[in-house]
Amino acid sequence: MTVVDADVDFGELDRRGGLGVRCLGVVHLYRTFEGHDVVALQGVDLSVRPGERVAFLGPSGSGKSTLLTLLGGIQRPSAGRIFLGEHEISRLPETELARLRSRRVSTMLQGATRNLLPYATARQNIAFARLALTSAERKEVAPDRELLARVGLEGVADQVVSTMSGGQRQRLALACAVSTGPQLLLADEPTSQLSHEDRDAVIGLVHELGDELGTTIIVVTHQPEVAATFPRTITMKGGRVGLEGRDGAEYVVIGAEGVVHLPTHLAEQWPQGTLVRIEPEAADRLVVSRSAESEEDA
Ligand SMILES: Nc1ncnc2c1ncn2[C@@H]1O[C@H](COP(=O)(O)OP(=O)(O)O)[C@@H](O)[C@H]1O
Ligand SMILES: [Mg+2]
Repeated sequence: MTVVDADVDFGELDRRGGLGVRCLGVVHLYRTFEGHDVVALQGVDLSVRPGERVAFLGPSGSGKSTLLTLLGGIQRPSAGRIFLGEHEISRLPETELARLRSRRVSTMLQGATRNLLPYATARQNIAFARLALTSAERKEVAPDRELLARVGLEGVADQVVSTMSGGQRQRLALACAVSTGPQLLLADEPTSQLSHEDRDAVIGLVHELGDELGTTIIVVTHQPEVAATFPRTITMKGGRVGLEGRDGAEYVVIGAEGVVHLPTHLAEQWPQGTLVRIEPEAADRLVVSRSAESEEDA
């Protein structure tokens, strides 16, 4: 299929401008049916400026999806604090959190079908996503037809989701997520099932939202081509922020108690158990050197 390369006009929403995001010591545990605790996040400190666009990377199980659902107010953290704009969502009453979720924050969960009503049509799904908008806001957002055309679904506007392909569902889920003109868009692997062409068109739509409304955008992805379109990357490792990439340069984040994770390509040459010396060379420079002892072992 080919995605139409038309621009979407997201309107002149008065709520324009992105929401800033701040996490302080965020910890999240899951309790399994057997009663064990799984530590999904162990102290995430993170700050994303209003309107910033960030790609979350990292191996499977590193906590990306958990962090995204916490930022979207779908789950509450076990400990720590999360701020969206001026609201501390980790403490917000449920009614206010629901209002934030339905009008200001769009979360596209991993697995497109979880975001859609399977027995409703494409058009009905978009209408449902917009249910909480006021009538004034509804006049300002992009029309259904325009959104559906942008993701190449104009031909299936009245088709029910359960008859659509995986790729079509993924494109519809994204159309629903952007349909409210959110101030924060959180998308968990939104292009994992798409052809290269569709992937580029869908990511184009995400950036268009940012360009027009100043929306803050956080996208989880495994695809380097997708990550490359974002000025900032955050790599999760073992439930923490491990690496930060900004404008092509890679930074390691010093964690709690001074823990530093080596970038993967270095970790192979500096395996676990290697003895190193760390000496300050200047105020902004440390030197890490292998000890003579570990040279002999190698
Ligand atoms: N509902 C759940 N119940 C128990 N453990 C979970 C649940 N969801 C995720 N986990 C665990 O939490 C950790 C982080 O998972 P997740 O946030 O899905 O990581 P990612 O998206 O980076 O793959 C993993 O160890 C995973 O097995
Ligand atoms: Mg995940």
